[in-house]
Amino acid sequence: MSRNKSIQRIFSQVPKTYERVNHLLTFGLDILWRKKVVQYAIKKGGSRWLDVCTGTGETAVYLSQQASENKYVFAVDFTLPMLQEAVRKTDAGNIHFSQADARKLPFPDRSFDLITISFATRNLNLNHEILIQTFMEFHRVLIPGGWFVNLETSQPRNPLIQKIFHFYIRALVQQLGYRISGSNVGYAYLARTIPRFYTAEELSNILIQAGFKTVEISKMLLGAIAIHAGSK
Ligand SMILES: C[S@@+](CC[C@H](N)C(=O)[O-])C[C@H]1O[C@@H](n2cnc3c(N)ncnc32)[C@H](O)[C@@H]1O
Repeated sequence: MSRNKSIQRIFSQVPKTYERVNHLLTFGLDILWRKKVVQYAIKKGGSRWLDVCTGTGETAVYLSQQASENKYVFAVDFTLPMLQEAVRKTDAGNIHFSQADARKLPFPDRSFDLITISFATRNLNLNHEILIQTFMEFHRVLIPGGWFVNLETSQPRNPLIQKIFHFYIRALVQQLGYRISGSNVGYAYLARTIPRFYTAEELSNILIQAGFKTVEISKMLLGAIAIHAGSK
């Protein structure tokens, strides 16, 4: 089975419980982190915003709630059951959803003022080269001066805190995720990818290699979570 198909299979198993597990594992903090992404969006401005790998659309809905009348929020994901959960949301009515692969976005060059992604870059990191190419695809559909805002787990710099963070992920994520969602493979995947992901500085370099100019980094939870904002 291709990597894309196995990722789609994993996310097809969890849409109903996906947000509940996230809120439990982060003690509700993921809601604050998503809202911080929205603050970035408001600060960076523009009228056409795209949320890639939108999943059940939680960040896209927060973007849409804050978007004024002349703003358009688009959202894409390649897993249909996640998108079906997203479109069902009461506040999703103004969002333009489509099923698409983030590596080959169905939009012309310079279509968006801002692109967001939350907790999905690990899935796009099939390898270092593929991640650079995917970020280049985001760069392609941004206008010059547009921004890409990336919310993702990261690596605490302090080795002891990093150990505690990885222990928490290994000990709890798979167990709790499985108990609530019934998907063992889904949360085993999550527990595996988080400790292997890049440091904030490594990810910043990857963004620069993909063509982004200025990269701002904002670290949260002692560096376990980071927002990167890169400009075209
Ligand atoms: C961990 S979820 C994150 C969902 C959402 N962004 C959030 O913050 O809750 C990862 C999502 O990325 C999607 N995804 C992974 N690889 C993708 C790709 N190449 N193209 C489009 N969607 C992808 C999955 O289908 C899944 O819905």
